[in-house]
Amino acid sequence: MKQKLLFARAYEKEAAKLIPDTARPLFHLTPYTGWMNDPNGFSFYQGKFHLFYQYYPYDTVWNDMHWGHAVSTDLLHWEYLPAIMAPDKPYDGFGCFSGSAIELDDGRHLLLYTGVCKEGGESDKDIQTQCVAIGDGLDYKKIPQNPVLDEHDLPDGCEKYNFRDPKVWREADGTFFCIVGSCDENGLGKLLRYRSADGIKWAYDGILIENDGRLGLMWECPDYFDLDGKQVLLVSPQDMLPQGFEYHNGNGTVCLIGHFDPESRRFIPESDHAVDYGIDFYAPTTILMPDGRRVMIGWMQNWDTTKLTGRKDRRWFGQMSLPREICIKNGRLYQQPIRELEKLRRGGVHYENVRIEDEMRLDGITGRTVDLTITVRPAPGEPMYHNFAVRFMQNEKFFTELTYRSRESILRIDRKFSGSRRAYIHQRRCLVPNRNGEIKLRLILDRFSAEIFINDGEQTMTATILTELSASDISFVADGAVNIDVTKYDLLWEDNHETV
Ligand code: FRU
Repeated sequence: MKQKLLFARAYEKEAAKLIPDTARPLFHLTPYTGWMNDPNGFSFYQGKFHLFYQYYPYDTVWNDMHWGHAVSTDLLHWEYLPAIMAPDKPYDGFGCFSGSAIELDDGRHLLLYTGVCKEGGESDKDIQTQCVAIGDGLDYKKIPQNPVLDEHDLPDGCEKYNFRDPKVWREADGTFFCIVGSCDENGLGKLLRYRSADGIKWAYDGILIENDGRLGLMWECPDYFDLDGKQVLLVSPQDMLPQGFEYHNGNGTVCLIGHFDPESRRFIPESDHAVDYGIDFYAPTTILMPDGRRVMIGWMQNWDTTKLTGRKDRRWFGQMSLPREICIKNGRLYQQPIRELEKLRRGGVHYENVRIEDEMRLDGITGRTVDLTITVRPAPGEPMYHNFAVRFMQNEKFFTELTYRSRESILRIDRKFSGSRRAYIHQRRCLVPNRNGEIKLRLILDRFSAEIFINDGEQTMTATILTELSASDISFVADGAVNIDVTKYDLLWEDNHETV
């Protein structure tokens, strides 16, 4: 094994000992130590879910990309395994960027990833190629044929400087396909398709779709799959412009729903919408579970707020989102927390038809790691309320707030008072279909995040929240009269009686 990887493995093992479990989220994956971004190689292999991730073990900032590794049997308890790749070859010396995984017929695990190296000479541009590493779920070897796709495999007009994030799958006849993000001279994303008989020797197979300029510029981390009779494309565009309340500035996540046209061999989108309307969600990728569920996981972070790190002594940065079951309903991508989460529920507290007029607390409704569902309706016989808010991760100094302005149908997440001392993005708004002032919110709170599932998963808002852990109160506020139903469970491991 190469020196650089051995060094990283020895380092991370020691460094991780300095991170107590209580300094990590309870059920969201963080890096073994140091920095994490995109989920990579999400797959079910030899009886376990494997999740790799973009990883820099030596500091809590993005730098030379390695691949970190964790395994799980329920997608909630994660066991760290040693890092599997370091940037140690001429073709990937600047980084082993994102990619995906698939099992070969002989039982080996194939990783297809982007190798990045510097062009050299006058230029300090990155050259990006696709490379393969093969392994057994623990140790992986980069193959001698690397890179398996390079600039010679690009169609006219596509750039070798932006050619990354392959997502691989197999068709029923065993053929391997992958799509890779690229862009033209104008910086507009194109998704390129390649095919292969063995996962190693690849041939260009056409363009799946081109960005017409409406959805950002370069398209990162594509994923493409069948879901409920449709074809779905998930992409994470860079440099988005907002469109009403649908997309926000900067890096975004887009779900395109459509069909594959066999004649042009292109994906024809019929509609698109944001995957997540909160602050921190990017580069989602999916897996087809052995039981047929399609589950998505994303990097629970935003490239523009990576300097929002909270405590200076925190030795990890970056979290994965909760794995989310996805389906298509009413022409949209619906998301639900993976149902295995319900096994962590303890001690349900339930209220019905509680009238909220001012700020109010309810007995037993508190906690920092909770599954909280609130159904809000206008109080009968009263004029339509203006605002309803739930405050959480609250103490005398801090709180984060979710506010629904019923007359405008706007839901806003606001972490301005969460303890941040920096002027990064702290609010996001989302337009929620107006149903006469009724809205259902399911909040999954972990120690350092909130994931909000709106109206049974029709929309989601996700944000990291670094408020001191003792802030665990929850309160309800209304401007106007509302009635709410509330159900709350603590989320705990069996052997863990403390929520924080
Ligand atoms: C997306 C991304 C990918 C790239 C990786 C590098 O977050 O920019 O396009 O492969 O991160 O770490």
